[in-house]
Amino acid sequence: MSTIRSNKTASDIAVPAARPSYFSWFDRLRVRLQRLQHHERPAVHPPAQRRANDNQPLVGDLRALLREFNVERRGQDSSPEVWTPEKLRTLLHEQLAGDEVLVVSNREPYIHVETPHGIEIQRPASGLVTAVEPVMRACSGTWIAHGGGSADEATVDDEDRIQVPPGQPSYTLRRVWLSPEEEQGYYYGFSNEGLWPLCHIAHVRPVFRSTDWEQYVAVNQRFADAVVAEAHTDNPVVLVQDYHFALLPQMVRELLPKATIITFWHIPWPNPESFGICPWREELLEGLLGSTILGFHTSFHCKNFLETVDRYLEARIEHEASTVSYGGALTQVETYPISIAWPDANDTPNVLLCRAEVRQELSLPPDHLLGIGVDRLDYTKGIIERFQAMEKMFELHPALIGRFTLLQIAALSRSSLDEYQNFEARVRALAARINERFATEDYQPIILRTHHHDAAQLNRYYRAADICVVTSLHDGMNLVAKEFIAARDDERGVLVLSQFTGAARELPEALIVNPYHVEHSADALYRALTMPDAEQRERMRSMRSRVKNFNIYRWAGRMLRDAAELRKRERIMSKIRHHSHAPLRRVI
Ligand code: F6P
Repeated sequence: MSTIRSNKTASDIAVPAARPSYFSWFDRLRVRLQRLQHHERPAVHPPAQRRANDNQPLVGDLRALLREFNVERRGQDSSPEVWTPEKLRTLLHEQLAGDEVLVVSNREPYIHVETPHGIEIQRPASGLVTAVEPVMRACSGTWIAHGGGSADEATVDDEDRIQVPPGQPSYTLRRVWLSPEEEQGYYYGFSNEGLWPLCHIAHVRPVFRSTDWEQYVAVNQRFADAVVAEAHTDNPVVLVQDYHFALLPQMVRELLPKATIITFWHIPWPNPESFGICPWREELLEGLLGSTILGFHTSFHCKNFLETVDRYLEARIEHEASTVSYGGALTQVETYPISIAWPDANDTPNVLLCRAEVRQELSLPPDHLLGIGVDRLDYTKGIIERFQAMEKMFELHPALIGRFTLLQIAALSRSSLDEYQNFEARVRALAARINERFATEDYQPIILRTHHHDAAQLNRYYRAADICVVTSLHDGMNLVAKEFIAARDDERGVLVLSQFTGAARELPEALIVNPYHVEHSADALYRALTMPDAEQRERMRSMRSRVKNFNIYRWAGRMLRDAAELRKRERIMSKIRHHSHAPLRRVI
């Protein structure tokens, strides 16, 4: 049993007046288990005797339950087992047999758009989609998302559903339509002018408006209703994605009390002071605590979340077990570092061919040094700092002028917001200034592209590049870093990686930089461009084996396995509840 630690004084500790039922249940269960372990009989008086006898068939289950409590959760993280789509499917069949899986996210995995050549299908520039889509292919089930494409309505059936992936359907995409007012308030306003800058330390002020909040509440309710409409059972596994849906877990909990709700927060969680800026902080926390499991990329984000709950809610926190007890229900707060699907070796084009073709496409000489940056055009990504570092490197090492080019793919994003328009203008202006300063007749140091690139195109660029530069000012994980590593089966190429990404915690073999320190980043760029082959290979090999092992199937598999264990436990407990009449709503 874990201890409770808090930095508050005894009088500050927020414990509900009535002790949460879980703890009284847990105490009783522990005593019962101790007796069972020592083959003791409970005190003999009629009601207790009757309950003990009734519980005898549960002895096996209870012992299993005790073992589960004794499992060192974090120990599972380092297991050498390799997760594959097949293993994920087996887990679903064996441990979640017959259970349905529903995913809820704002961004949809396939966007149908009208073009002059007919309807085209696009894959959005979204880390969330990159990660969750392969999982859905393995799980089947239903993915509920905002239908935002110009041809989305034209491509669904009468129930707003479409089978995807196109050509190889393996799961259902259920689209939810938003009015322009809803999209403005919930997506652009509250999510992206409020929560996004609130959670990322990028020195952009969050904007909170009551009208945006009202839309955020209403849209969360609409998606919660869609979950209920799509669920065929009363206890589905619901995977809620990201900051667009902080209220949805509690809303679904009220409609489907038996659901297993796993929420994953894809962006950083700030410290309590920063989060406290939000006028609706308590409502957001309460909404998230409707989850059975709440996942973050790093233990640091988990810690910040627990401290935020401690600061603003009357909740009970067990730091060792990483649980929050609120309103009689428990939420497990857990670290699940997100990742990517490891590519199939047969699908990848030859590296030497990629190098040659890409250089030809960009009108560069065959031996030209090439860097690649792939981001949404977002102020959190450190694109300005990246260009400044490159400029500084040219000043310090002029021999590289004319020899090195950075291809910066910066997909336009959230462009109707002023902050993003201003940022785009600054990025374009800086790229133009640097290009003007160092360009020659046939040389341009920065190639900036803001149009959509598909995964196959990006893969070619990753394979053709000498270095990949990720300089986010703050990033939950950053999957570009992992995609680059996965693309380099030749074990060459150097990753320059911001210390403020979640990925930096898993990839110490990258050249880790502080993007705010321009000279430091300039040195790292130079070191990357001049790194001997043997050192590249050593670093890349080590990173590849880690990303291959800690892939997206492990991310999903660990969450689903934890969910399966909790469901098993819930079933045991409801039997005990039945016998002891304990008023327990949800337990872990
Ligand atoms: O991965 C972080 C994230 O914010 C996702 O939540 C989101 O899908 C992605 O970046 C792209 O943002 P958007 O969906 O607003 O284009």
